[in-house]
Amino acid sequence: MSHAPTRPAGLKPLRVLIIEDTDDDLQLLLLALRRAGYAPDHACVHSAAGLARALEQRPWDIVLSDYALPDFSGLQALAQVQAHDPDLPFILISGNIGEEVAVAAMRAGAHDYLIKGNLTRLGAAIDRELREAVVRQERRRADRELREAKQRLQALSNRMLEIQENERRHLARELHDEIGQALTAVKLNLQALERRVSDAAARRLAQEVTGLVGAVLDQVRALSLDLRPPQLDDLGLVPALHWLIRRSAGGAPPAVLLHADQQPRRLPAPIETACYRLAQEALANAMRHARASRVDIEVVDHGDSLKLSIRDDGRGFNFPAALARAASGKSMGLLGMRERVSLAGGQLAINSRPGGGTEVCATFPLAAPAQDAAEGPRP
Ligand SMILES: Nc1ncnc2c1ncn2[C@@H]1O[C@H](COP(=O)(O)OP(=O)(O)OP(=O)(O)O)[C@@H](O)[C@H]1O
Ligand SMILES: [Mg+2]
Repeated sequence: MSHAPTRPAGLKPLRVLIIEDTDDDLQLLLLALRRAGYAPDHACVHSAAGLARALEQRPWDIVLSDYALPDFSGLQALAQVQAHDPDLPFILISGNIGEEVAVAAMRAGAHDYLIKGNLTRLGAAIDRELREAVVRQERRRADRELREAKQRLQALSNRMLEIQENERRHLARELHDEIGQALTAVKLNLQALERRVSDAAARRLAQEVTGLVGAVLDQVRALSLDLRPPQLDDLGLVPALHWLIRRSAGGAPPAVLLHADQQPRRLPAPIETACYRLAQEALANAMRHARASRVDIEVVDHGDSLKLSIRDDGRGFNFPAALARAASGKSMGLLGMRERVSLAGGQLAINSRPGGGTEVCATFPLAAPAQDAAEGPRP
C-alpha cells in the first residue's frame, strides 16, 4: 500500500496517512498534495484494523481522512488517531457533510475540515497544522520537563527536611544525654569539692564555678528541647504541643490555649512532625508579629483526617504581600509551613487581614483508626 517516495526537486517530503476507500478520490488527493508543493510518502487504509496497523508501523506527519466510509467513519478514525498520538494532525476531507457535522468533528478534535471538491486550501492547511503540531509537541515537552523538575524538587525538599529532623533529633539527644550528663557530673563534683575546701576564697570560687556550670547545663537542656522535644517521639503531638506552649509562655500576653482530645491516638510520624513544626512557627509568628492577646491552638482528629489550626486575635497582615516577600528570600516561616504541610500530604490555608487576626489551618488525610486500635506509645 505504501509507495516509496520519488521526490521531484523542490517538493517537501510529507509522510501522510490517508483514510479513503475510493481510488479516484485517493488519486485526486495525491495530485492536490503535489500541486500544494508536497512529495507525499503515503499509505491508504479504509478500516480500523488497517489504521491501527499503519499507525504502529511507522511515524506519520499528518492524517487526511474521508468522513463516510462503508465500514468505518472519519470520527472513529479521529478517536483512534488521538488515542495513538494526540499531537498528530488530523484533517477531515469529505464530500459536503454540512456545517453542523463539520463543527462536531472539529469539537471532537479534528484540526481542520476540507471539501473534496475544493482542495485549494489543502497546502495552507497542512503547512499550518504541521507548524502547530510542532508547537503542541514543544508545549507538551516543556510541561513534562516542568512536572519532572517539580517532582525532583519535591523529592529534594522532602529529603532535606528529613535530614534536618534527623539531625535535630540526634543533636538534641547528644546534648541532653552526653553533654548534659557530663555537665551534671562536673556540677556534682564541684559541689562535693565546695564542701571539702576549708579556704573561704577557694570555696567562693568553687561556688561561682558551680553556678556557672549550672547555668550552662540549663542552657544545654533548653537547647536540646528546642531542637526537638522528646515528647514528640515518645508521647506524640498533643503532649509535645502542651510542652511548646509551656515553653513559650512568659507570663505576658498572649494567653495560649490548646484545644485537643485528652487521650489522642498516635499519628504517622511525618504528620506529627509537620504539625508540631507548623504550630511552632505559627505560634512564634503570633508572638513576634501579631500583638495578640490570645492564641488558640486546636487539634481535631476526624478519624479520616486531622485538622490543626492556630488562631490569633492580633493585628493580622496582608498574606499575599508577605508571601511574595518571603518568595524573594526575605523570610522562611510562611514558605517552610507550606512546604512541610504539602510534603506530609496535607493542605494549608492561611487567612489573615490587617486588623482581623490570623488563622493558620492545616488538614491532613489519615487512615481511619482500626476498631480495636491500642492506645499508648508506639513500639
Ligand atoms: N500571626 C501573624 N500576625 C501578624 N503578622 C504576621 C503573622 N504571621 C506572619 N506575619 C507577617 O508575615 C511576615 C512573614 O512571616 P514569616 O514567618 O515568613 O517571616 P518572619 O517571621 O518575619 O521570619 P522567619 O523567617 O524567622 O520566620 C512576618 O514578617 C510578619 O510581617
Ligand atoms: Mg516566622
